[in-house]
Amino acid sequence: MSTGKFYIHTFGCQMNVHDSEQMAQILSDAGYVKTDEADRADIIIVNTCSVRGKAAQKAYSQLGRLKRLREKRPDLVIGVAGCLAQEHGTGFFRRAPYLDLVLGTHNIHRLPEMIEEINNTGSQVVDTSFHESVRSLGIRTLPPDGNVSAYVTIMQGCNNFCSYCIVPYVRGREESRAGGDIIDEIRFLADNGIREVTLLGQNVNSYGSTLSGDTDFPALLRMVSKIDGVDRIRFTTSHPKDLSERLAGCFADLDNLCEHIHLPVQSGSDHVLKRMKRGYTAGEYLKKIDMLKSACPDISITSDIIVGFPGERDSDFQKTIDLMKEVRFDNVFSFKYSDRRGTASEGYDGKVEEGVKSERLYELQALQESNSLEKNRCLEGIVKDVLIEGVSKNNDADITGRTRGNKIVNLAGDIGLTGRTVRVRIVQAHMHSLRGEMV
Ligand code: 5AD
Ligand code: SF4
Repeated sequence: MSTGKFYIHTFGCQMNVHDSEQMAQILSDAGYVKTDEADRADIIIVNTCSVRGKAAQKAYSQLGRLKRLREKRPDLVIGVAGCLAQEHGTGFFRRAPYLDLVLGTHNIHRLPEMIEEINNTGSQVVDTSFHESVRSLGIRTLPPDGNVSAYVTIMQGCNNFCSYCIVPYVRGREESRAGGDIIDEIRFLADNGIREVTLLGQNVNSYGSTLSGDTDFPALLRMVSKIDGVDRIRFTTSHPKDLSERLAGCFADLDNLCEHIHLPVQSGSDHVLKRMKRGYTAGEYLKKIDMLKSACPDISITSDIIVGFPGERDSDFQKTIDLMKEVRFDNVFSFKYSDRRGTASEGYDGKVEEGVKSERLYELQALQESNSLEKNRCLEGIVKDVLIEGVSKNNDADITGRTRGNKIVNLAGDIGLTGRTVRVRIVQAHMHSLRGEMV
């Protein structure tokens, strides 16, 4: 058995958070011990994201800080994992010669043996090879004690090649995980006290396309919904072009499927959507929204939007604003376009000035803030089911949980309620959370 303490810094999306959980699991299985104090760790892994320039920058800053720690402690093992590691491979050793390890997105399962190799040989180790079948898809993790919610990977990679997106290059082609494995893992989680699962994939709607048999995503959801002990099911991320009537039907039929969908629209302009290679028009997107709302009138809808995509004119941006006014999203994650290496749009003309991107982002976010607050205000006075997750981040005296629509609710209550679903009257709406009282 190996010994030593490890610490993992995580940047990026839910997929990355789950990858870090998997790394922690296999390191623990190999005998290493997790620590919450980076300064005391013998092994530090920086799990990176390269989907946008800003996310990549954060990871580089963290690596810069670790350089100083390494100078004080030459025996420290420092690794970089995730999408940025996959993108740059051995190039990372030139940029940061103090690194010991570069771990690509398909090779998480090799982490312990790679650390052992570093410890035995003192050499730098890299593995960014791609595999048709990704072994880490099946690494089971159990979130820390007291967590009520867990991620379960159902597929990874992406075949869509949206013109701005680096994901297909750094995560590889789509691969779905066998339905039986997924069900077994969720049963195991439910037996261990997990009440809510979030099914993860870059593009969950195309689940099943790489499997023999005819289990597609709606069929998988119906199987998962039958598992005893799982009170809530969520999933992310859905691609609008693949959202079917059958999936919308799941929201109407399955009691434990939460009334929330994250459905990135990216832009409200057909001209921009075409250049983004998204495969739908704004009108088609709006039809899918109507379909969801007729299946599930209460559904909360969140989205991702990019501003300043190459060729985006003022009139295109205005169409995005119009679409936001029409849909009235519950929340929007909005980003300034950044060139990503090797993507199609890196070579597009019509690049938008930074200042213009900032102005557009500001206008969009101001609109969303007012929409979010207005939508939250509609909940005042209403009683909602809230799954309690633990102590509130903002106030130790409060507990916190989420509605089925994925809104955060803070309330006075006993920490012993963690893992229980309680009836809560919403008494005050804020922009990003709600205040409630138990009824
Ligand atoms: N520039 C800005 N935003 C991007 N996203 C993906 N690639 C880029 C890029 N090159 C955003 C999209 C996606 C989210 C995860 O990140 O909105 O849905
Ligand atoms: Fe990127 Fe498009 Fe795939 Fe989403 S669907 S991961 S935006 S290529």
